Amino acid sequence: MRAPRFIECPAPAGLPPAAEAAAGLARRPARLPPKFFYDALGSRLFDAITELPEYYPTRTEAAIFADHGDAIAAAVHAALGRGATLVDLGAGNCEKAERVFGAFAPGRYVAVDISAGYLRTTLERLQQRHPALDVVGVGIDFSARLALPAGLVDAPALLFYPGSSIGNFAPTDALRLLREAREAARGGALLIGVDLVKPADVLESAYDDALGVTAAFNLNLLRHLNRLLGTDFDVRDWRHVAFFDAAASRIEMHLQARRALAVRWPGGGRGFDAGERIHTEDSYKWTLAGFEALLREAGFARVQAWTDARRWFALLLAAG
Ligand code: AVI
Repeated sequence: MRAPRFIECPAPAGLPPAAEAAAGLARRPARLPPKFFYDALGSRLFDAITELPEYYPTRTEAAIFADHGDAIAAAVHAALGRGATLVDLGAGNCEKAERVFGAFAPGRYVAVDISAGYLRTTLERLQQRHPALDVVGVGIDFSARLALPAGLVDAPALLFYPGSSIGNFAPTDALRLLREAREAARGGALLIGVDLVKPADVLESAYDDALGVTAAFNLNLLRHLNRLLGTDFDVRDWRHVAFFDAAASRIEMHLQARRALAVRWPGGGRGFDAGERIHTEDSYKWTLAGFEALLREAGFARVQAWTDARRWFALLLAAG
């Protein structure tokens, strides 16, 4: 049986995580990148979010695969043939990619996530279930730049980016990432999940659920910063805020101070007025036509799309 290979890529040039967090907190208004949600508990809370009745994206995407899986697989094979490399962007527990192995028949599976160490156990187990598959784990933070290690993709490949994480990029950054994905696919294709515009009340309850799981996910970022940067946040001083900004077509998530307070960390600190916010996430919602146009602007010549009956979510295959 083969064994998975692991490649850890150097952190992109820029500030180390603690310094990036300190700089974001010192900004006015304070702003932190959503990657700080995902410590061990944050990743579990996100998994819990995907099971909430209000959070429709995960199950809607799964329903599109269930209803249109044969057509999607046929389109993938028409673009790439069988045995191509499957590059899974933001692989996490690799479950979504493994579900398409049967239909897409990849020859190599490249799981890309922020840390190769995080992928290790998952890929070792996955290799046991797929002993003939060439399995590679790549640890890379592609939020600033997607550049895969040389030699991994030397023929047209399928880049797989399900889950609508592209929505967490502002449109100009999304365009940059799509261009880099097209380059990384080496003449292959990109299969991507995108959350679509829908009524504000549906969107707002998906990001402010009745059980408070999304609130816990947002507030947990403060505990993560307490460990990462040494801040002295007390989560009880903060509340979760989420709303849809229709003009910008995005959900915004913030943490709002319940009272005037000061936060300190080694080498720094700042005050927050009562009601002042830390902006923690944007989640852009696209129209189907708008996202197809973005893919074309990124250089893809052929775009096919599949949606659910309510047109709440789309899977798009972009090639050329
Ligand atoms: C990871 N990403 C696609 C999620 C989203 O819907 O923007 C993150 C999330 N934030 C709150 N709930 C889920």
